[in-house]
Amino acid sequence: MGARSRFITLIRLAPLLLTLALLAGGCTTNDPYDTLTDFGDHSKTVRGLFWPVLWVAIFVFFAVEGLLLFTMIRFRRRGGERQMPKQTHGNTRLEVGWTIVPSLVLAIIAVPTISTIVDLARTPQNALQVRVVARQWWFEFIYADPADPNRAVSVASEAHIPAGRPIHWTIESEDVIHSFWVPNLAGKQDAVPGKKNDLVFTARQPGVYHGECAEYCLDSHALMRFIVIAEPEGQFNTWLQGQAQSATARTTGSAGRGQELFLGNACIGCHAIEGSAAQGRTAPNLTHFGSRVSLAGNRLENTPENVVRWVTNPQQLKPGAKMPAFGGTLSEEDIKAIADYLHSLK
Ligand code: CUA
Repeated sequence: MGARSRFITLIRLAPLLLTLALLAGGCTTNDPYDTLTDFGDHSKTVRGLFWPVLWVAIFVFFAVEGLLLFTMIRFRRRGGERQMPKQTHGNTRLEVGWTIVPSLVLAIIAVPTISTIVDLARTPQNALQVRVVARQWWFEFIYADPADPNRAVSVASEAHIPAGRPIHWTIESEDVIHSFWVPNLAGKQDAVPGKKNDLVFTARQPGVYHGECAEYCLDSHALMRFIVIAEPEGQFNTWLQGQAQSATARTTGSAGRGQELFLGNACIGCHAIEGSAAQGRTAPNLTHFGSRVSLAGNRLENTPENVVRWVTNPQQLKPGAKMPAFGGTLSEEDIKAIADYLHSLK
């Protein structure tokens, strides 16, 4: 085989190689953006529909393209031909055929599609209710206090859930349209102002699952992230009981000074710290801030240095952030004291 014909063979094989590479790429595991996993019952059900529909689509693609190629080759102009071929218009049998066949394909696909939609819309009796409120640019998760179901427990950007139990998320928005999405566990659900949308799914095993906003919502859309921490039911109950308690902060030393500064500044207009004078409801509830692993919508690791960076200039870390920059009004030492106070809120 000469170099030229080897090259031509390679060119002919290119689409096949590309398809195989794409399929292999889609098979990687542990990718936080893999939507067809076993981690969630929702994602597994969606996968059960995705693959059969994909195979039908692949079959249709090759059938149509194959016929097209066959026609192009079989009826191509051959050397020396000068006349126009015989022109035809309309063919009832063909037209009826290419109307009926696609209708049948769609009707066949509709059966598993509709049953999947019905399956995913079911809310089991034992589902745990969690309210999701989306805002520019963070997610609030609201639980009922286990000791007093009429009292709400609010946390930001880090949702804890019991693994193995269905969660019924009620999704709302306070400003523009956002979308609540935990790729490894379930499909997307929009957060629409003035509307309550539902999503029900179960995390089948404990783990930390990444989530984010999946609908463009201006400046910091790409930084509107959160995590879902699925843990054994007992551990989850302990966490929720802890979150329902009022803050227990150190009130001596630098943290004590930070507390004074926090309560004496604009912070309390937007943030709440249960058990203190801070009762703002438009920004993340900071009652147990020290127990969180991240801050600023899962943008930064929750370290004192990052809290200082955030309070000094939020817009630099998250463009458009609603929180004002305090770098100009408070000294570095004051901001450090506030960070110490917030970190003492376990
Ligand atoms: Cu919120 Cu995009």
